[in-house]
Amino acid sequence: MSKIAIAGAGGRMGRTLIDACNQADACTLTAATERLGSSLIGVDCGELAGLGHTLGVSVAPSLATAEDFDVLIDFTHPTITTQHVDFCLQKEKKLVIGTTGCDATLEAKIREAAETISIVYAPNMSVGVNLCLKLLQTAARVLGDEVDIEVIEAHHRHKVDAPSGTALKMGQVVADTLGRDLKSCAVYGREGQTGERDRNTIGFETIRAGDIVGEHTVMFAGIGERVEITHKASSRMTFAKGAIRAAHWLSDKKHGLFDMMDVLGLSD
Ligand SMILES: NC(=O)c1ccc[n+]([C@@H]2O[C@H](COP(=O)([O-])OP(=O)(O)OC[C@H]3O[C@@H](n4cnc5c(N)ncnc54)[C@H](OP(=O)(O)O)[C@@H]3O)[C@@H](O)[C@H]2O)c1
Repeated sequence: MSKIAIAGAGGRMGRTLIDACNQADACTLTAATERLGSSLIGVDCGELAGLGHTLGVSVAPSLATAEDFDVLIDFTHPTITTQHVDFCLQKEKKLVIGTTGCDATLEAKIREAAETISIVYAPNMSVGVNLCLKLLQTAARVLGDEVDIEVIEAHHRHKVDAPSGTALKMGQVVADTLGRDLKSCAVYGREGQTGERDRNTIGFETIRAGDIVGEHTVMFAGIGERVEITHKASSRMTFAKGAIRAAHWLSDKKHGLFDMMDVLGLSD
């Protein structure tokens, strides 16, 4: 049985993760945190997630006061994730990171920490999205440089980073398959006199509206036909179940950096 801690327990994902952990046979929730000063400190996680019963685990103001766990699941904010990587490294705890918008410095820190502890880091933990990543590799391999490639994503109005981590990951998978450098071939939105489209670019378009949970389409548009690979999430539970699966999957991993493709056995 894996003992799980959930950071950001009061957040949209935090509450869903409590629910998913409660439903999982192989995992048990033993700790949960919120930021110091939050009105949720001391609240029972069962009440917080609206389960209709208590879980006997109350929200703590920091991991230092909630150390009884094997794996920390972090869906918070990059500044908080940075502190959690340090904590897990120091205490030799396993880590599942779902937080998006992590910069190159934080990603380097995650890679370095993974030399000592085991970490799953993935911008999208849903099974469907990771299956789509596999399909994107096939589509890019078959359609190659003959098509224009655009990544279109839509999320709820509260999302703070753009394009989504999933959209960037999709673009990265396509770029890697085609041998392109995403940094130099990505185009983020268009306005004004853009000139003709360069076939070698990969375009990203972002929509932020209402309560959209998460939608991604990668368009491979040629002359006479186009292929679109689309994923639509209708509930955060898909991400939460993936994160719990990742946390349990880590139980026999001593160290290393993994993503959801590894967890789902989809890696080459
Ligand atoms: N990988 C995936 O599959 C996936 C799926 C969905 C979302 N995400 C990502 O997950 C992240 C969180 O998303 P969300 O929608 O759940 O955001 P959210 O509702 O804002 O939740 C973040 C939570 O973290 C809390 N927090 C802030 N400081 C903290 C601290 N020091 N210790 C513990 N908790 C702290 C926040 O509390 P306050 O509000 O009080 O500051 C908030 O409750 C985002 O980066 C999002 O893009 C990833």
